[in-house]
Amino acid sequence: MFRLLILFIVQSVVLNTANGHVMSMPTWCYWNKDDLSDMELIRPYIFNKINYIEFNSTLGKYVGYTELGIRNAEVWNKDTAQLQAQKAQVETYCKRNVGIYYSVVLSKTVEPQVKVKLVKKPDGSHPAVLMCSAYSFYPPLIKVTWLRNNKEFESDVTSTEEMADGDWYYQVHSHLEYTPESGEEISCVVEHASFKKPMSYKWDPSMSEPDKSKIAIGASGLVLGVVLSAAGFIYYRKKSSGRILVPT
Ligand SMILES: *[C@@H]1O[C@H](CO)[C@@H](O)[C@H](O)[C@H]1NC(C)=O
Repeated sequence: MFRLLILFIVQSVVLNTANGHVMSMPTWCYWNKDDLSDMELIRPYIFNKINYIEFNSTLGKYVGYTELGIRNAEVWNKDTAQLQAQKAQVETYCKRNVGIYYSVVLSKTVEPQVKVKLVKKPDGSHPAVLMCSAYSFYPPLIKVTWLRNNKEFESDVTSTEEMADGDWYYQVHSHLEYTPESGEEISCVVEHASFKKPMSYKWDPSMSEPDKSKIAIGASGLVLGVVLSAAGFIYYRKKSSGRILVPT
Protein backbone atom coordinates (compact mmCIF):
# COMPACT_ATOMS: atom_id res chain seq x y z
CA MET A 1 0.00 0.00 0.00
CA PHE A 2 2.79 2.39 0.90
CA ARG A 3 4.70 1.74 -2.30
CA LEU A 4 1.74 2.95 -4.34
CA LEU A 5 1.29 5.98 -2.09
CA ILE A 6 4.97 6.95 -2.40
CA LEU A 7 4.75 6.65 -6.16
CA PHE A 8 1.81 9.09 -6.13
CA ILE A 9 3.66 11.59 -4.01
CA VAL A 10 6.76 11.40 -6.24
CA GLN A 11 4.57 11.81 -9.30
CA SER A 12 2.79 14.81 -7.91
CA VAL A 13 6.14 16.51 -7.33
CA VAL A 14 7.45 15.69 -10.80
CA LEU A 15 4.24 16.35 -12.71
CA ASN A 16 3.06 19.25 -10.65
CA THR A 17 0.50 21.27 -12.57
CA ALA A 18 -1.58 24.30 -11.74
CA ASN A 19 -4.61 22.06 -11.24
CA GLY A 20 -3.19 20.01 -8.38
CA HIS A 21 -4.09 16.37 -7.74
CA VAL A 22 -6.72 14.34 -5.93
CA MET A 23 -6.24 11.02 -4.21
CA SER A 24 -9.39 9.33 -3.03
CA MET A 25 -10.01 6.06 -1.17
CA PRO A 26 -13.75 5.80 -0.50
CA THR A 27 -15.43 2.83 1.13
CA TRP A 28 -18.53 1.56 -0.66
CA CYS A 29 -21.05 -0.83 0.85
CA TYR A 30 -23.40 -2.54 -1.62
CA TRP A 31 -26.35 -4.71 -0.69
CA ASN A 32 -29.79 -5.73 -1.97
CA LYS A 33 -31.18 -7.90 0.80
CA ASP A 34 -32.73 -6.38 3.91
CA ASP A 35 -30.99 -8.99 6.09
CA LEU A 36 -27.64 -7.63 4.74
CA SER A 37 -26.48 -11.19 3.92
CA ASP A 38 -25.20 -10.09 0.50
CA MET A 39 -23.20 -7.11 1.81
CA GLU A 40 -20.17 -6.30 -0.33
CA LEU A 41 -17.42 -3.85 0.56
CA ILE A 42 -15.45 -2.18 -2.23
CA ARG A 43 -12.49 0.05 -1.45
CA PRO A 44 -10.94 1.64 -4.54
CA TYR A 45 -7.75 3.68 -4.78
CA ILE A 46 -8.52 6.53 -7.13
CA PHE A 47 -5.87 8.98 -8.26
CA ASN A 48 -7.03 11.88 -10.43
CA LYS A 49 -10.26 10.08 -11.34
CA ILE A 50 -8.45 6.88 -12.39
CA ASN A 51 -9.31 3.77 -10.39
CA TYR A 52 -6.02 1.85 -10.15
CA ILE A 53 -6.93 -0.94 -7.81
CA GLU A 54 -9.73 -1.92 -5.47
CA PHE A 55 -10.43 -4.33 -2.67
CA ASN A 56 -13.49 -6.47 -3.35
CA SER A 57 -14.77 -8.27 -0.24
CA THR A 58 -16.75 -10.84 -2.25
CA LEU A 59 -13.51 -11.96 -3.92
CA GLY A 60 -11.64 -11.37 -0.66
CA LYS A 61 -8.77 -9.72 -2.54
CA TYR A 62 -7.54 -6.76 -4.56
CA VAL A 63 -8.25 -6.35 -8.26
CA GLY A 64 -5.96 -4.18 -10.39
CA TYR A 65 -7.33 -2.06 -13.23
CA THR A 66 -4.17 -0.47 -14.65
CA GLU A 67 -0.70 -1.89 -15.18
CA LEU A 68 0.38 -0.28 -11.93
CA GLY A 69 -2.73 -1.51 -10.14
CA ILE A 70 -2.31 -5.08 -11.38
CA ARG A 71 1.30 -5.15 -10.16
CA ASN A 72 0.27 -3.81 -6.75
CA ALA A 73 -2.59 -6.32 -6.50
CA GLU A 74 -0.13 -9.17 -7.00
CA VAL A 75 1.94 -7.96 -4.07
CA TRP A 76 -0.94 -6.97 -1.75
CA ASN A 77 -2.81 -10.22 -2.33
CA LYS A 78 0.09 -12.13 -0.76
CA ASP A 79 -0.55 -10.41 2.58
CA THR A 80 -3.33 -12.64 3.92
CA ALA A 81 -3.51 -10.82 7.26
CA GLN A 82 -4.18 -7.55 5.43
CA LEU A 83 -6.84 -9.23 3.23
CA GLN A 84 -8.53 -10.65 6.35
CA ALA A 85 -8.50 -7.24 8.02
CA GLN A 86 -10.13 -5.64 4.97
CA LYS A 87 -12.73 -8.37 4.73
CA ALA A 88 -13.59 -8.03 8.43
CA GLN A 89 -14.78 -4.50 7.66
CA VAL A 90 -17.82 -5.94 5.92
CA GLU A 91 -19.08 -6.61 9.45
CA THR A 92 -17.42 -3.88 11.47
CA TYR A 93 -17.94 -1.03 9.00
CA CYS A 94 -20.67 -1.86 6.44
CA LYS A 95 -23.14 -3.96 8.40
CA ARG A 96 -22.70 -1.93 11.55
CA ASN A 97 -23.40 1.42 9.87
CA VAL A 98 -26.08 0.16 7.52
CA GLY A 99 -27.76 -1.47 10.53
CA ILE A 100 -28.03 1.98 12.09
CA TYR A 101 -29.59 3.32 8.87
CA TYR A 102 -32.17 0.53 9.04
CA SER A 103 -33.08 1.17 12.65
CA VAL A 104 -33.38 4.91 12.10
CA VAL A 105 -35.10 5.17 8.69
CA LEU A 106 -34.88 2.34 6.18
CA SER A 107 -37.22 0.00 8.07
CA LYS A 108 -39.82 2.70 8.70
CA THR A 109 -42.91 3.39 6.65
CA VAL A 110 -45.02 6.54 6.53
CA GLU A 111 -48.52 6.54 5.04
CA PRO A 112 -49.20 8.75 2.04
CA GLN A 113 -51.78 11.55 2.28
CA VAL A 114 -53.98 11.01 -0.77
CA LYS A 115 -56.11 13.60 -2.58
CA VAL A 116 -58.19 13.23 -5.75
CA LYS A 117 -59.13 16.33 -7.67
CA LEU A 118 -60.44 17.50 -11.01
CA VAL A 119 -57.78 19.32 -12.99
CA LYS A 120 -59.65 19.68 -16.28
CA LYS A 121 -63.42 19.77 -16.78
CA PRO A 122 -64.81 17.83 -19.73
CA ASP A 123 -65.25 20.25 -22.59
CA GLY A 124 -67.07 19.23 -25.76
CA SER A 125 -65.06 16.43 -27.30
CA HIS A 126 -62.19 16.83 -24.80
CA PRO A 127 -62.13 14.38 -21.90
CA ALA A 128 -61.96 15.31 -18.24
CA VAL A 129 -58.69 14.97 -16.33
CA LEU A 130 -58.53 13.80 -12.74
CA MET A 131 -55.40 13.84 -10.63
CA CYS A 132 -54.67 11.52 -7.73
CA SER A 133 -51.85 12.86 -5.56
CA ALA A 134 -50.04 10.99 -2.81
CA TYR A 135 -47.94 13.14 -0.48
CA SER A 136 -45.40 12.66 2.30
CA PHE A 137 -44.85 8.92 2.13
CA TYR A 138 -41.85 6.66 2.75
CA PRO A 139 -40.41 4.45 1.27
CA PRO A 140 -40.68 5.72 -2.33
CA LEU A 141 -42.03 2.48 -3.80
CA ILE A 142 -45.76 3.04 -4.48
CA LYS A 143 -48.45 1.95 -6.92
CA VAL A 144 -51.35 4.17 -7.99
CA THR A 145 -54.14 2.79 -10.20
CA TRP A 146 -57.60 3.97 -11.25
CA LEU A 147 -60.90 2.07 -11.13
CA ARG A 148 -64.20 2.71 -12.90
CA ASN A 149 -66.98 0.69 -11.29
CA ASN A 150 -64.28 -1.56 -9.79
CA LYS A 151 -62.66 -2.24 -13.14
CA GLU A 152 -59.15 -0.98 -13.75
CA PHE A 153 -58.45 1.67 -16.37
CA GLU A 154 -55.77 0.17 -18.58
CA SER A 155 -54.99 3.23 -20.66
CA ASP A 156 -55.22 7.02 -20.41
CA VAL A 157 -53.26 7.01 -17.18
CA THR A 158 -49.99 8.90 -16.83
CA SER A 159 -47.98 9.16 -13.69
CA THR A 160 -45.03 11.18 -12.51
CA GLU A 161 -41.96 9.53 -10.99
CA GLU A 162 -41.79 9.34 -7.22
CA MET A 163 -40.44 12.80 -6.48
CA ALA A 164 -38.19 13.34 -3.48
CA ASP A 165 -39.24 16.21 -1.23
CA GLY A 166 -35.66 16.20 0.04
CA ASP A 167 -36.58 15.24 3.62
CA TRP A 168 -36.96 11.45 3.08
CA TYR A 169 -40.60 11.95 2.07
CA TYR A 170 -41.85 11.46 -1.47
CA GLN A 171 -44.82 12.51 -3.60
CA VAL A 172 -46.36 11.17 -6.76
CA HIS A 173 -49.16 12.36 -9.06
CA SER A 174 -51.23 10.17 -11.37
CA HIS A 175 -53.45 11.67 -14.07
CA LEU A 176 -56.50 9.99 -15.55
CA GLU A 177 -58.10 11.17 -18.79
CA TYR A 178 -61.67 9.98 -19.11
CA THR A 179 -65.09 10.77 -20.47
CA PRO A 180 -67.54 11.01 -17.56
CA GLU A 181 -70.63 8.82 -17.66
CA SER A 182 -73.60 9.17 -15.35
CA GLY A 183 -73.91 6.76 -12.45
CA GLU A 184 -70.30 5.67 -12.60
CA GLU A 185 -67.90 5.41 -9.69
CA ILE A 186 -64.29 6.45 -10.20
CA SER A 187 -61.67 5.76 -7.60
CA CYS A 188 -57.94 5.98 -7.15
CA VAL A 189 -56.27 2.98 -5.53
CA VAL A 190 -52.96 3.33 -3.70
CA GLU A 191 -50.72 0.44 -2.67
CA HIS A 192 -47.89 1.18 -0.27
CA ALA A 193 -45.77 -0.65 2.31
CA SER A 194 -47.39 1.44 5.07
CA PHE A 195 -50.86 0.01 4.23
CA LYS A 196 -52.05 -3.46 5.19
CA LYS A 197 -54.20 -3.54 2.06
CA PRO A 198 -54.66 -1.36 -1.04
CA MET A 199 -56.50 1.84 -0.12
CA SER A 200 -59.24 3.19 -2.31
CA TYR A 201 -60.13 6.89 -2.63
CA LYS A 202 -63.45 7.63 -4.30
CA TRP A 203 -63.74 10.58 -6.65
CA ASP A 204 -66.66 12.69 -5.44
CA PRO A 205 -67.77 15.08 -8.23
CA SER A 206 -69.39 17.38 -5.65
CA MET A 207 -65.84 18.04 -4.41
CA SER A 208 -65.33 20.30 -7.39
CA GLU A 209 -67.95 22.60 -5.76
CA PRO A 210 -65.29 24.71 -4.01
CA ASP A 211 -65.15 26.45 -7.41
CA LYS A 212 -68.65 27.77 -6.79
CA SER A 213 -68.02 28.82 -3.20
CA LYS A 214 -64.87 30.65 -4.31
CA ILE A 215 -66.92 32.61 -6.85
CA ALA A 216 -69.54 33.37 -4.16
CA ILE A 217 -66.88 34.64 -1.74
CA GLY A 218 -65.30 36.73 -4.49
CA ALA A 219 -68.66 38.20 -5.55
CA SER A 220 -69.69 39.12 -2.00
CA GLY A 221 -66.29 40.74 -1.51
CA LEU A 222 -66.87 42.80 -4.64
CA VAL A 223 -70.40 43.87 -3.56
CA LEU A 224 -69.15 44.83 -0.10
CA GLY A 225 -66.33 46.85 -1.66
CA VAL A 226 -68.70 48.71 -3.99
CA VAL A 227 -71.15 49.48 -1.15
CA LEU A 228 -68.40 50.76 1.16
CA SER A 229 -66.76 52.96 -1.46
CA ALA A 230 -70.18 54.38 -2.47
CA ALA A 231 -70.88 55.18 1.21
CA GLY A 232 -67.46 56.79 1.52
CA PHE A 233 -68.01 58.83 -1.62
CA ILE A 234 -71.44 60.08 -0.46
CA TYR A 235 -69.97 61.02 2.95
CA TYR A 236 -67.13 62.91 1.25
CA ARG A 237 -69.52 64.83 -1.01
CA LYS A 238 -71.71 65.84 1.98
CA LYS A 239 -68.69 67.05 3.97
CA SER A 240 -67.08 69.01 1.13
CA SER A 241 -70.34 70.70 0.04
CA GLY A 242 -70.78 72.02 3.61
CA ARG A 243 -67.29 73.54 3.68
CA ILE A 244 -66.88 77.28 3.15
CA LEU A 245 -63.90 78.39 1.18
CA VAL A 246 -62.27 81.41 2.81
CA PRO A 247 -60.16 83.59 0.46
CA THR A 248 -56.70 84.33 1.80
C1 LIG B 1 -16.72 -8.11 -6.69
O1 LIG B 1 -16.48 -9.43 -7.04
C2 LIG B 1 -17.65 -10.20 -7.32
C3 LIG B 1 -17.20 -11.63 -7.56
O2 LIG B 1 -16.35 -11.72 -8.66
C4 LIG B 1 -18.36 -9.62 -8.51
O3 LIG B 1 -19.55 -10.34 -8.76
C5 LIG B 1 -18.69 -8.17 -8.21
O4 LIG B 1 -19.30 -7.58 -9.34
C6 LIG B 1 -17.44 -7.40 -7.83
N1 LIG B 1 -17.84 -6.05 -7.45
C7 LIG B 1 -17.46 -4.95 -8.08
C8 LIG B 1 -18.00 -3.66 -7.58
O5 LIG B 1 -16.68 -4.98 -9.02
